[in-house]
Amino acid sequence: MQTLRDIPALRAALAALRADGRPVALVPTMGALHDGHMALIEEAKRHAGHVVASIFVNPKQFGPNEDLDAYPRREASDSQMLADAGVAILWAPKVEVMYPAGFATNVSVSGISEGLDGAARPGHFDGVATVVSKLFNQVRPDVAVFGEKDYQQLAVIRRMVADLDMGLEIIGLPTQRAEDGLALSSRNAYLSPQERKDALALPRALGEAARQMTSGAAVGEALHAAAATMLAHGFASVDYVRLCDAATLEEMTILDRPARLLAAARIGTTRLIDNIAVHPVAR
Ligand code: PAF
Repeated sequence: MQTLRDIPALRAALAALRADGRPVALVPTMGALHDGHMALIEEAKRHAGHVVASIFVNPKQFGPNEDLDAYPRREASDSQMLADAGVAILWAPKVEVMYPAGFATNVSVSGISEGLDGAARPGHFDGVATVVSKLFNQVRPDVAVFGEKDYQQLAVIRRMVADLDMGLEIIGLPTQRAEDGLALSSRNAYLSPQERKDALALPRALGEAARQMTSGAAVGEALHAAAATMLAHGFASVDYVRLCDAATLEEMTILDRPARLLAAARIGTTRLIDNIAVHPVAR
């Protein structure tokens, strides 16, 4: 695996890689890799002959009071995991390469990026859309793979790719979970042993709310009960628990079409997100 940090070297390596005519897949990451990321790499291998992974902790998607400085950075072990998984190129630019002096462009996807995490984290999805556009322009992949764990991010990227005719295929992979059901996330590394146990209230509350809704309970009541369960089991606050249209993320009050149940909540100082599919039951 080649590790590259500047654009001319990346372009040269990609040209050599593409010489055999096989498609290239990109798996964008911020590092601190876990089994969820490795599942994205395995999925990428199913869709392309060559896999490029990027590691870039993108300052533009962190708010002023968020965890940019504390975000786990483990490039040496990440790099080993990617090499072992058969990744051809690790693209790991420094901030000055991604955003050189004078950088002035912002990619903003309206509508779908405005509610949920977009409301709770102003500017976050502009930062994501801007860096993902740059990664796509740098690598020019045929396919890119993202996790459904960041469901709204995936929806924003799909919208951007369609709107800007980016001409690559976006693949979403179901959330990878620990055996007990907690969604894998680099931010789980922040949890104390007690918080790690309490964190299970998030997927459990979502599962229970989905069961209630599909058995006919009012959506508002099920959402309210989910938030109350999390607060009763160690969460300090709940940013949102909402039922949304699975494709547009429009808020739903009645389960009448394929939906996604999404939540964000804080445990100690750590903010966790999760989401699950909810399907209407014909009655
Ligand atoms: O999901 C992530 O890790 C990041 O938001 C991404 C897509 C790599 C952009 O920085």
